[in-house]
Amino acid sequence: MKPEKSPRFIVFEGIDGAGKTTQLDRLEKALTEAGTPVFRTAEPTSSDTGKLLRRALSGELQKTPSELALLFTLDRAEHNREIEKALADGKTVLCDRYYYSTIAYQGNATDPEWVRRMNLDCPAIRTPDLCVFLDLMPDESIKRISARGEATEIYETKAQLTKIRDNFLNTLKTLPNVRIIDASGSPAEVHEAILGAVGE
Ligand code: TYD
Repeated sequence: MKPEKSPRFIVFEGIDGAGKTTQLDRLEKALTEAGTPVFRTAEPTSSDTGKLLRRALSGELQKTPSELALLFTLDRAEHNREIEKALADGKTVLCDRYYYSTIAYQGNATDPEWVRRMNLDCPAIRTPDLCVFLDLMPDESIKRISARGEATEIYETKAQLTKIRDNFLNTLKTLPNVRIIDASGSPAEVHEAILGAVGE
C-alpha cells in the first residue's frame, strides 16, 4: 500500500462482533508499514464520559436512551479535540465507532432524527473522510461474540442486532464517504477488501 498523501479521518463501524478490532489492527499495521503515521482511537473513549458510558453499557448504571445519546455525543465532542490535534500533527486517524453508532444504536429507542441532527450539526464534531462499515448478519456476529467468551453488553441479542444493522444500513445510505464491506469472509479476505476501499 502507498503512504497517505494527507492525513485522513477514517472510521470503522459495524454491529457487535463484526470484526472491527481485528481489521483495525491489520489496517493500522499496513498503514504504518507503508510509512503513514497513525493515531488509533475508539469510542466510547477512556475519558470520564467514556467511563460513565461503559458502566451504562454493562448495565451497572441505568440511563435512558436519550441520556445515552447525549453522553455518547458529549464523549464524541470531547474526543474531537484529540482527533483534530492528531490530524494537525499529520497523522491518519483510525477510529473504532463514531456517530453512525449513536444513530443506529440510540436512534433505535429515541428520536433518530434528533440524534442525527445533534451529531451532524454539531460544529465540534468532524465529518469522517471515510466510513468503513463491516457488514455481518446478526447470527454470525452472535457466534463470534460467544466465541470470545467475554461478558455480554446490553445490545448483544439477535433481535436488537438485527434492528441495529437495519438502522445502520438505512442511515449509511444517506451519508457521504461510506463504504460497505462484506465482513463474512476470512480476516485476510476482509482486509483485502478494506485495503481496496482505503486505497481508492
Ligand atoms: P465497542 O467497544 O465498539 O464494542 P465491540 O468491540 O463489542 O463492538 O462498543 C461498545 C458498545 O457501545 C457497543 O455495543 C455499541 C455501543 N455504542 C452505542 O450504543 N452508541 C455509540 O455511539 C457508540 C460509539 C457505541
